[in-house]
Amino acid sequence: MYKIKVHLRERSYSVCIGAGILKELGRLLRTFKFSRRAAVITYPPVESQFLNPVRDSLERERFSVVCLNLPAGEETKSLKTVEDIYHQLTSFRMDRASLLVALGGGVIGDITGFVASTYLRGVPYIQIPTTLLAQVDSSVGGKTGVNLEEGKNLVGTFYQPRLILIDTECLKTLNQRDFVSGIAEVIKYGIIKDRYLFSYLQENYKKVLSLHSPSLARVIRSSCHIKGRIVEKDEQEKGIRSILNFGHTIGHALETVTGYRQYSHGEAVAMGMVATSLISLRLGICNKQTHEDIMDLIRKTGLPSALPDRYTPDDYVQLIKLDKKVRSEKIRFIAVERIGRVRIIEIEPEELVKYLV
Ligand SMILES: NC(=O)c1ccc[n+]([C@@H]2O[C@H](COP(=O)([O-])OP(=O)(O)OC[C@H]3O[C@@H](n4cnc5c(N)ncnc54)[C@H](O)[C@@H]3O)[C@@H](O)[C@H]2O)c1
Repeated sequence: MYKIKVHLRERSYSVCIGAGILKELGRLLRTFKFSRRAAVITYPPVESQFLNPVRDSLERERFSVVCLNLPAGEETKSLKTVEDIYHQLTSFRMDRASLLVALGGGVIGDITGFVASTYLRGVPYIQIPTTLLAQVDSSVGGKTGVNLEEGKNLVGTFYQPRLILIDTECLKTLNQRDFVSGIAEVIKYGIIKDRYLFSYLQENYKKVLSLHSPSLARVIRSSCHIKGRIVEKDEQEKGIRSILNFGHTIGHALETVTGYRQYSHGEAVAMGMVATSLISLRLGICNKQTHEDIMDLIRKTGLPSALPDRYTPDDYVQLIKLDKKVRSEKIRFIAVERIGRVRIIEIEPEELVKYLV
């Protein structure tokens, strides 16, 4: 088992990564002073595959375990679900030292974290992410939240988990599209901080795509390490943490304009990263090789690289302005200088999209 520590003073925690480590959960919790009540929050495909080893491991450590099974899908990330969970936790007599366990992808992690941060003004929770996106991105860093009708992730908190347990075996049941979607975030980490990770992916993308355990563990470790180091520097996204949004400005615009139905998050981010490197090239911030390397790797992994041509630059301007990251006329845009290094620039959306055509 490989461990990465995220150092956040009294909110520090470990990310444990390995193959087949779900059964280690109870043992890993021995040093914590939780009461012996745990609620596992999960959804159907994951519950049938992975609840038993998690429950058994907790029960071996004398936890009394209840399971809350939510419907899968982004619609579940709502205040209505949160309220339902509060009622169930009350009926299970969960107290302030009881443990919440998020067993699932980003949807489960975000809701469980939000409930944990608010129920009884805060109870401990741990993350057991089961999608690649959740293993390399959403489980680390303590961003929790739910969606409103008006938009995604508009209500939320920063609330760190006590432990993250990443079992790479869980990825074996994930469908190909969800898996590849997570690869986009791994490529992102290479671009923003780690040229060795990027070249590892260039050379080994076929092994990663075939779920070769050591290759998977290698890229998940690097991704969690990078995210952990960035979160340590800027827990509440007041500065440097925004580089994690590389490719997301245009990616979010695409997700919004297509009603979150046509592209997965990773697919939209992949197209956003290629478009961002093209803008960086045309602004004279990176060279042609960097742009081509990014485009080439994204294509090789099977992710889409070209923006759909049915939208005009003006469409993108409107959508980017709607994005919650807009502070004034200018937006903070993460441009790439070279693989492993990005730069935050302030630019007007109108100016930005000029470089897309
Ligand atoms: N908190 C953060 O920092 C952060 C960062 C990025 C994304 N997010 C959020 O994460 C969510 C997307 O995460 P996601 O892609 O994991 O979505 P998800 O949780 O909806 O999972 C995608 C699909 O995979 C299925 N699934 C999960 N694990 C499985 C497994 N092991 N085997 C088979 N099927 C499995 C789920 O049932 C679901 O249908 C979004 O709501 C997004 O806003 C949060």
